[in-house]
Amino acid sequence: MNYLAVLVSGRGTNLQAIIDAIDEGILPDTQVSVVVSNRKDAYALRRAEAHGIPTIYHPLLPYKKAGRSRREYDEDLAKKLAQYPVDLVVLAGWMHILSSSFLRHYANRVINIHPALPGAFPGTHAIERAYEAFKRGEIDRTGVMVHYVPDEGVDCGPVIIQREVPIYPQDSLEDLEERIHRVEHEIYIQAIAQVLGVKLRPRRS
Ligand code: GRF
Repeated sequence: MNYLAVLVSGRGTNLQAIIDAIDEGILPDTQVSVVVSNRKDAYALRRAEAHGIPTIYHPLLPYKKAGRSRREYDEDLAKKLAQYPVDLVVLAGWMHILSSSFLRHYANRVINIHPALPGAFPGTHAIERAYEAFKRGEIDRTGVMVHYVPDEGVDCGPVIIQREVPIYPQDSLEDLEERIHRVEHEIYIQAIAQVLGVKLRPRRS
């Protein structure tokens, strides 16, 4: 069995895609052992609970208020995760940059998904920024990538899978967001399978 820790901050559609792929037998020999959120109201936590997956709420604010460092926050995150079996840490909308105090515990075992092509629009609001760049005639397509997280670099690191996503002149921002998220949900499963060395099974129709 391969165990995933999924780190989230928001609505958790990527987490849901992973849970569904496991439940439907598409991603075999894999289990989500724990879901971590830095935000209490993250809908992703409700999704995990609905599937009986253990959750950890690990907020940064108490550390800031106590004058404690990000490194301590990350070190404690690693300690909490150590209570669970974890083969791969999957960042699915996790909004904090992980420092080496966390990453050193999971060398080559942390992956992230970014809704843009490698090198393009790192950071937040990537889809919106790509959409605006398209409108200005600066780009004619965007994409999605899954990459390893070797260090504190934002949305960069060795690419595992990337896929181009077209933008059409008649697209609204919502159209583009929906197209990108659909691709995300597909390629994150492929990337996880590839990293774990698991063979994906065909979707039952
Ligand atoms: C996704 O677009 C992902 O690429 C980015 O954050 C978003 C998370 O969405 N890193 P969700 O919470 O999985 O719905």
